[in-house]
Formats: sequence, structure tokens, C-alpha cells
Amino acid sequence: MGFMSAGLQGGPHSLLRGYGEHERQGFNWWALLSVAQFVLPYRRMLALAVALMLVAAAAQLAGPYVIKVAIDGFIAQHDVRGLIGASLALLAIFAGGAYASAGQALLTGRLGQAVLRDLRSRLFAHMQRLPMAYYDRADSGRLISHMVSDVSVINELLTSGIVALSGDLIILLGIIGIMLAMSARLALLSFMVIPVMILLTAWFSHAAARMYRRTRQKVGVMIGRLAEDLATVRVIRAFAKEGEASGHFEHTNRENRDANIAAISLAFAFRPAVDLLAAIASLIVIWFGGRFAAAGAVSVGTVVAFLSYVSRFFAPIQELSQLFTTVQSAAAGAERILGLLQTPVTIADAPRAVPLEGLQGEVELRDVWFSYAQDKPALRGVSFHVAPGEKVAIVGPTGAGKSTIAKLLLRYYDVDEGQVLIDGRDVREVTLQSLRRQVGVVPQEPFLFAATIRDNIRFGRPEASDEEVREAARLARADAFIERLPHGYDTWVQEGAVNLSLGQRQLLCLARAILCRPKLVILDEATSSVDTQTERLIQEALRVLLQGRTAIVIAHRLATVREVDRIIVLDRGRIVEEGTHAELLRRPGVYRRLYEAQMASAAAAG
Ligand SMILES: Nc1ncnc2c1ncn2[C@@H]1O[C@H](COP(=O)(O)OP(=O)(O)O)[C@@H](O)[C@H]1O
Ligand SMILES: [Mg+2]
Repeated sequence: MGFMSAGLQGGPHSLLRGYGEHERQGFNWWALLSVAQFVLPYRRMLALAVALMLVAAAAQLAGPYVIKVAIDGFIAQHDVRGLIGASLALLAIFAGGAYASAGQALLTGRLGQAVLRDLRSRLFAHMQRLPMAYYDRADSGRLISHMVSDVSVINELLTSGIVALSGDLIILLGIIGIMLAMSARLALLSFMVIPVMILLTAWFSHAAARMYRRTRQKVGVMIGRLAEDLATVRVIRAFAKEGEASGHFEHTNRENRDANIAAISLAFAFRPAVDLLAAIASLIVIWFGGRFAAAGAVSVGTVVAFLSYVSRFFAPIQELSQLFTTVQSAAAGAERILGLLQTPVTIADAPRAVPLEGLQGEVELRDVWFSYAQDKPALRGVSFHVAPGEKVAIVGPTGAGKSTIAKLLLRYYDVDEGQVLIDGRDVREVTLQSLRRQVGVVPQEPFLFAATIRDNIRFGRPEASDEEVREAARLARADAFIERLPHGYDTWVQEGAVNLSLGQRQLLCLARAILCRPKLVILDEATSSVDTQTERLIQEALRVLLQGRTAIVIAHRLATVREVDRIIVLDRGRIVEEGTHAELLRRPGVYRRLYEAQMASAAAAG
């Protein structure tokens, strides 16, 4: 873990340095090797698994040899006591082998799960720290696929892979060695099938790898589609596009099926060919072995042992070839996972970041330039100062950059130029946690978790008592609707908060912010979706609540900001006007135009 994170930060001894250069190659050993470090903490478990694997392999190799001894040494000599001994030895070998291989499977299974868990936590933790800008670009389907399928391929590699690979190699080499020692001539004759077998499996694994990559890709597309469709199911319904969405999904689904069927059919062509080869190998042993035995060149026991050995070297060869596929897809999965893990956390605490303590609530933007996308600045040289305890409104048309200011104050993004200062400190110099903990935000898009109403309200202060939660809800004017819910504060907020109206969600977010009693409060159109009467009530509650606190109130409805100390008017990323409501109304500017337009439409509506 230690040197992994060093690698992420691009430390001088980074294991992962230069990883990007390998990215385009078909097979990424580098990525695969990097995964090995996740196994490191479990090396003792791995060692034990390898030891058990060795025992199992030894049992596999010894079995046929003991049978040969039993036939030649005891059966042929009518030695019943010897036969009993040999039988007991065989029993011990078979039982020991069976338990050793089961134990090995159990251990590698546990090892795989442990590594899997670690990898997922690492991925999840990293995703939590990735800058917001990453999520502006990433699609959630791809991220889910990282978390689920890419991680599980690596697990597959660890469980059926590393240990099985060495076991198979040992068995294969062992069988070849023993056969050569028992009868070099018969051994070489039996080995004739091996080149054919290798060619066959090489062809198969090559085709299978391609196939496998395609199915995995289709699965990725399918998951992505699913995630998107589920997220947008309401929109799909609203526009009556269910048929189209189903059609799209059906298409992806069918492609996925076809890719899988093709992979299965391939295996179907491969299996009989292997069986036939195995039969030929047995025939070679029977035919030549029988003739050698008749001539007295080898013993009958040797022929029987050979039959047993030739039937055993097919499984390792096949497994080894399959392993190649597994390794290949694991390498691909590892590459994607590492790619994600390496996505730099650009918004992170500076090395010398200090916690922001005892917030006063002073805010200043100094000539701030910021753009989400290249060459399309959302803020263009914005400067303003808010004294501690001052209440300032930011107004302006949609897209003016109001929410962007809120995001910069919380350092969801870093400015391109200029500075954001809180209490005179650049936000980049303080720890993110101390900053975000002390600033209360009610975001424009209210977000609630799948949890109870109570837990949603006390999210920022989990230790708050039930009484405090109710008080916060009362101040936010959320108590009335909560008490009407079937289970009151214990009502479960469904995923996406679909069981609550937008206005209700805003009230809950407001209560959540109120409960934290932060020195600096940012309300981003916090009450834009509640009815005017509730909004008026909230305004009154806020007036009390915000006493002695700094507040930045972003609003679209100008009627709600008349009472702030100062109003900043933003238009297309620039501050165009600044002053009190009365002052601004006197000037023929953006504010007056907006105000008159809103008054006119309110009059028309009323
Ligand atoms: N995540 C984003 N990615 C790209 N562009 C964005 C993003 N968020 C906002 N923008 C753009 O930045 C500009 C300002 O947006 P925003 O601050 O949300 O405006 P406001 O809150 O005043 O309506 C708009 O042009 C908007 O399209
Ligand atoms: Mg906004």
C-alpha cells in the first residue's frame, strides 16, 4: 500500500512510473505485476497455499508410480502383505492429495476474496478523492464496471491462476521426468501427441482470448447502458421513449448473448479434439507399451503407470492454456483499474496544508478565472469581499456562474487564475476537511441519501440528538411535512429521493445545513422549488439563524434577496453591478431589468 500510493503521487521510486508508456500494448505485464503488491500483505496465506499445492502435486505424481510398484513388485510376486502395504500407501496418497488440493483451493479462494476487498476499497477510496472535474467526464457505467468486473477478473487470476499455474507446471514436468526415467523409449513415443496438443491449445486460447475480450467489452457496454437507463428512467417515461430505450438495450443485450455463444461454441469445438488426442495417447501406450512388455523390455506395471500418466498430462496443458486467457483478461482489467487508481487527485491537501480553525467567515475572491472546459470561462476575473457576519446575495441569469462560485468556495474545483480566500487564507493552503466541515452549503441540486429522514438531516453532525434534529427541521420549516409522513423522522428516503418532492428535498438539505450551525452559510437557490409562502417563512427563520454568521445567498427569485446587506449581480462570468436592492433599482442595469421582468411575470401569473 505504501509504495502504491507513492506511485500515485509520482514519487521518485514509483513502481508505476512509466506505466502510461505501456498502456497501448496488447498485453500489459507491468499492470499485472503492479497487482502483485496487493497480494503482498497475504504472503503467508499464499505460502501455505503453495505448500499445499506442492503436496497435492506430489500425490498426483506418486499415485501411478505406487500402482506400478504394486503390480510389478507385489501382484506379480503374489505378495499379499506387500499389496496391503501398497494399498495403504495409495490410500494415504489419494486422501492426502485430495485434502491438500481442497485446502489449497480454500486458501486461494480466501486470498482472492481478501485481495478483492482491498482492491475495491482502494478503488472506492480513490473515487471519493477524485476531483469533481473527473466526474464531469466519467460515465458511471464504466466506473461500475471497474468496481465489479475488472476487479473480479483479477480475483480469478489469483485463485485459479498463480497457484494453479505453478502446480500444473510442476505436475507436467514431473510426469515427463518420471516417464523418461521409467522408459525413455515409451515416453518419447507417448510425447508425440504433445506438440499437436500445444498447437491445438495455442490456437484455441488465441481465439478464446479474442472472444473473451469481446464478451467482456459487451458486458461493459451493457452495464453502462443499464446504469444510464436506470438513471434516466423518468426522463425516458416522460418522453414516452420506453420502446426506443428497450430497443437499444435489446440490441446490446443480444450482442452480449452472441458474443457469449460464440465463446461457448469455440469451447465445444475444442473439447472433442482434446478427448480424441487423449485417446490416441492411450492407444500409443497400449500398442507400443504392449509390444515392449511382450518383448520383456518394460514391465506390465510400467505400461499401466504410463496409461495413468498420459491421461494426466492433458489436464495441466489445458489448464495452462486457459490460464493464458485468464492472465490476459486479468492484465486488461488490471490496466483499467490502475488507470483509474492513477488518475491524479488534483484537489488534495497541499503538503503543508493546515486546518482552518475557528472560522470567522470572511470571504474574498481575487480576480478569479475559472473554466470547466477549455476556452469557455465560467468566471472571468471575479473579485469581491464579504466581511464576517455580512449577508451578500449573488444574483444573475441562469448560467452566469453563480453556482460555480459556491463550488470554488468549497474547493470542488481549483481556480485557473486568481485566489479564493476564506478568513484571508487561500483555500488551497488549508485542509479540505476543515474547510468543508465549517462551511454550510445548501446546494442547488438537493442531495439525499437512501437513509431515514433523521439520518439525512444529521449527516453533517452524526452526534446531534433527536431534539436538535427536530429543531433544525422546525427552523427549515420542514417539520410540518415530515410529521405528516407515515413514519415521521424514521421515514426511509428512497434512492434518488423519489418519494419526496423537490421542494421537500430542499427543505431537508436546509435543515441539514442549519443543524451544523456553520459560520459561513452558502445557499444556492436553496428555496427555489418551495412555494412562496413557505419561502417567506424560511426567510424569517433564516434571519434569526444567520445572525452573526456570514451568508452568501444565491438566488434567482429577486424578491427573496431584498433584505441582504449587498447584492452582487453576475452576468456571463463577470460582476456587472453591486449594491443594495434600492441602489441597484435606481440604475438602469441588469438587476433592474431582471427585477422588472420578474415583477411583470408575477403580476401576469397572479
Ligand atoms: N460541470 C460542468 N461542466 C461543464 N460546464 C459547466 C459545469 N457546470 C456549469 N457549467 C457551465 O458553467 C457556466 C456557469 O454555470 P453555473 O455556475 O452553474 O451557473 P448558474 O449557477 O449561475 O446558473 C454555464 O455556462 C454552465 O453551462
Ligand atoms: Mg446555479
